[in-house]
Amino acid sequence: MKNVAILLSGRGSNFRALSDAIEQGRIPARIGLVISNRPEAPGLEYARSRGYKSLCIPSAGVDRESFDRLMAREIDAAAIDYICLAGFMRILSSWFVQQYPLRILNIHPSLLPAFAGVHAQRQALLWGAKVTGCTVHFVDEELDHGPIIVQHPVPVLEGDTEESLSDRILVHEHQVYPEALKIVCEDRFRVEGRRLIIKPEEIGVGPTSKSDLVPIAGGSREDDPRT
Ligand code: GRF
Repeated sequence: MKNVAILLSGRGSNFRALSDAIEQGRIPARIGLVISNRPEAPGLEYARSRGYKSLCIPSAGVDRESFDRLMAREIDAAAIDYICLAGFMRILSSWFVQQYPLRILNIHPSLLPAFAGVHAQRQALLWGAKVTGCTVHFVDEELDHGPIIVQHPVPVLEGDTEESLSDRILVHEHQVYPEALKIVCEDRFRVEGRRLIIKPEEIGVGPTSKSDLVPIAGGSREDDPRT
């Protein structure tokens, strides 16, 4: 059972998706801490309503590393295994990222490495992309850059607006983030350079059963007997 922290700044719909999957027993984890850098974040309110240990550490006017050190103190005190960024609108310092190698996950609303940074859906529309999607990846010191855990494609439709495209991507975000966290919490991966290799699920062992299986999005995996 892994101990997970959630960092968020806003609505928190991805946090809810993770929370639901964990509470339903689909991921061998518990949420040990939720941190928001914004007091008004709806995600923080939700965390409190669910009874999670929840903290607001306001970031306004605090330099990046000092803020990150405040967070790290709480994360370490809570003995956290993995940190999930869920709409956390602040770039992490190199210092923070170095404290937690391959232990920070992020979700980004594009198929990285395309359209890194803010307004990824708008970038995809402006570029004229026919396909975009979402990516869950480990965080390294470069923005939206670390090893990819799971991706899912989403077609860009004629007549799409930034809002309609964002809404369609979000549906898949809520599926791939729990899927990625499950892989990580079950220790079913290894990383070779940039490549993250997923080990097959042991069917009938542990908390999962065959009916829990969610196919990994995005095609075949070389070591997956199901493909
Ligand atoms: C999501 O689109 C996520 O991909 C991006 O920020 C947004 C957060 O949404 N990193 P929510 O707060 O999880 O609803």
